[in-house]
Amino acid sequence: MRITVIGCGYVGLVTGTCLAEVGHQVVCTDNDRERISSLKAGVVPIYEPHLDALLASNMRENRLSFTDDAAEAVRSGDAIFICVGTPPKENGEADLSAIDNVARLIATEAHSSKLVIEKSTVPAQTGQQLKRALSVYRRHPAVEFRVASNPEFLREGTAVEDFLHPDRVVLGVEDEKSEKELREIYHPILEATAEKTNFRCPVHLSGCPPAKSAQLVVTTINSAELIKHASNSFLALKISYANMIADLCEKVGADVQEVVHAMGLDPRIGRQFLNAGLGFGGFCLPKDVQAFVRLAEHSGVNFNMLREAEHVNKRRIDLFTEKIRQALWVIKDKQIGILGLAFKANTDDIRFAPSLEVIRRLLAEGAHLRAYDQEAMDKTAAIFPQVRFCREPYDVARDADALLILTEWPEFRQLDWSLIYDKMSRPLILDGRNLLNPQAMTQLGFEYHCFGRPQEKPLPQFLPAPVLRASSAIAQQA
Ligand code: UDX
Repeated sequence: MRITVIGCGYVGLVTGTCLAEVGHQVVCTDNDRERISSLKAGVVPIYEPHLDALLASNMRENRLSFTDDAAEAVRSGDAIFICVGTPPKENGEADLSAIDNVARLIATEAHSSKLVIEKSTVPAQTGQQLKRALSVYRRHPAVEFRVASNPEFLREGTAVEDFLHPDRVVLGVEDEKSEKELREIYHPILEATAEKTNFRCPVHLSGCPPAKSAQLVVTTINSAELIKHASNSFLALKISYANMIADLCEKVGADVQEVVHAMGLDPRIGRQFLNAGLGFGGFCLPKDVQAFVRLAEHSGVNFNMLREAEHVNKRRIDLFTEKIRQALWVIKDKQIGILGLAFKANTDDIRFAPSLEVIRRLLAEGAHLRAYDQEAMDKTAAIFPQVRFCREPYDVARDADALLILTEWPEFRQLDWSLIYDKMSRPLILDGRNLLNPQAMTQLGFEYHCFGRPQEKPLPQFLPAPVLRASSAIAQQA
């Protein structure tokens, strides 16, 4: 099928590239001309595993192209995926002005009938407004627009795999033709995942997840829109729940890791998204929760439970800064090292990352900061030029009075923690992601603080050094 993708952010780029990969003819457009010219040159403006390789191979094979001529892009596709941003307004509502602009563009530029698909995350009933906008701005009376909703469930860092190996594909449709066309678009992906016995990954990604059968769910447009907000809000609730359990564990002397492990063994609960720590960030969960609360409010439904999940999440930063203050006493003029800036591992995205607020507060109190992140340093440097960014994780520890872990990059577990111990002025770790093993860290001689796990007492300093800092292997067991 000939497909047009409008919006070349995370969602649009992954959607366009993966649809080309499974055999469709895709043209992507964006109103950011610089972005389009770098994409034309094969430069992917975001860090997303597998995306650059797939983008390059599909451009080479002429299935994927980029243009800044949005009108031409609209005319060329039979199906148009809207993948533009829906950022939060000041009151938390989703800002749908980009969707409105695209609707008017499609309505005025289309010369033939189109299936218009909402991929961007939007509040329920946006599809109805979209239909209205397409019809009132339609320039050619013979042109027919059909609207569908096909929400994305793409996690940053695994977005390509999520697209090609989905758990579910949700199609919100109101007519048979739209359903048929969307089934055709997703046919290569659904077919590949349905062959349970002899599964072949359509793109031969390294480390493909095991074969799983994707569920195709066909709903109304309103339900499809709601499914997306309801899913992300539930994930946020789960994380905030785990964080409250962590706070309780600290008070009663229990270990949150043990508690959530056992809870997660119940298939009705599941272990994922029960990791306590600094809380959720990124461009989806925080804004989707806010938008969902607003939608409920407008609809006369009291969803205070979600507001509380938001409050719990905001309080994580307060709690963490309080832990830093308690351990360091005075923050002014202290040298603090930071490991991890991205809102989560495997991404360079720092939007709504907890690290930003932690850095802001520490700078305001006069701390001197050094930071390291595998992918997110350039973006953070643009916001905080006062922070020194290091090429090596070990450099952030040099003469540091404290070391903070703010992102759950698994690589941080593999560091030589005895070397870090040697470099620090004071061996103090505040682990905002519960990444390391408290016992192992204490055995190495660190004062170690985290969320919801019993506080180990540092070993007495008269023990011989080899026992204190025996080997980084202990830390790696974490
Ligand atoms: C999310 C949804 O998961 C995805 O389905 C949707 O389409 C887009 O939004 P993403 O924003 O990439 O994906 O991040 P996600 O993996 O959901 O993590 C969100 C945040 O929660 C991160 O800051 C992460 O560190 C935090 N988190 C996650 C926890 O604090 N604890 C957990 O147990 C899990």
